[in-house]
Amino acid sequence: MRGVSAKEEARRWAEEVHRAGGRVALVPTMGFLHRGHAALIEAGVHTGAQVAVSVFVNPLQFGPREDLAHYPLDAVRDREVARGAGAALLFTPDPEEMYPEGFATRVEVAGLSERWCGAARPGHFQGVATVVTKLLNLFRPDEAYFGEKDYQQLVLLRRLARDLDFGCRVVGVPTVREEDGLALSSRNAYLSPEERRRARAIPAALAAAAAAHARGERDAEELRRAALQVLKGAPGVRVEYVAVVDPETLEPLEAVRGPVRMLLAAWVGSTRLIDNRFLAGA
Ligand code: PAJ
Repeated sequence: MRGVSAKEEARRWAEEVHRAGGRVALVPTMGFLHRGHAALIEAGVHTGAQVAVSVFVNPLQFGPREDLAHYPLDAVRDREVARGAGAALLFTPDPEEMYPEGFATRVEVAGLSERWCGAARPGHFQGVATVVTKLLNLFRPDEAYFGEKDYQQLVLLRRLARDLDFGCRVVGVPTVREEDGLALSSRNAYLSPEERRRARAIPAALAAAAAAHARGERDAEELRRAALQVLKGAPGVRVEYVAVVDPETLEPLEAVRGPVRMLLAAWVGSTRLIDNRFLAGA
């Protein structure tokens, strides 16, 4: 696996892959790589593409009171995970390389960026869309892989790739979970052992809604109530939102017809966690 930190080297690598008749797959990350990130890399490797992994803690997507300064780092493990999953290139630019003096452009996906996590984190999705646009321009990948774990991000980036004619397929990869159901996240590292136990209420809340849905419940408010009841029973867990949404527009729904997504954000102590689940079936 090659490691580069200059944009021009990354661009040249991708051009060479394409010139040799290969396909380029891109996996953007903020590092502290875990099995969830590895699943994205492996999904690309399985298609026969040359996979580039970027590791960049993007300052543009953090609010002024958020955890940019404390975001976990482990460059050694990142290399191991990326190599182990079969990545061909690891791109680790520093902030000056991505945002040199005078950088002034922002990319906004209207509408989709304002709801849910976007309402709680103003500017967050603009930062995500801006950095991903830069990465798509640098690598010109045939496919880019994103996790369903960050469902709103996945939907928004799919829209971005279509709207700006990147000609790149945006592929969503199912959420990788711990044994007790908690979605893997770099931010799980912030949880104390007690908080880690309490965080179990998040996947349990989604499971309760899915069970109600499987029993035939189709009223969105009742599905939300099923999830909220589990979360209310968990001490130290504060709900930010629980929503039943259209899987493509992310508009909230009242009555459920066809497949829908439940989105959830909650604070466990001072750590904000998100999760979501498909509600489908009879
Ligand atoms: P990060 O949180 O590092 O996540 C990188 C990618 O890994 C995202 O597509 C995310 O959805 C995916 N991912 C994280 N946990 C996962 C899990 N448990 N299962 C499956 N996939 C998982 O998301 C970002 O970074 C940034 O916003 C980024 C897109 C890199 C832009 O800066």
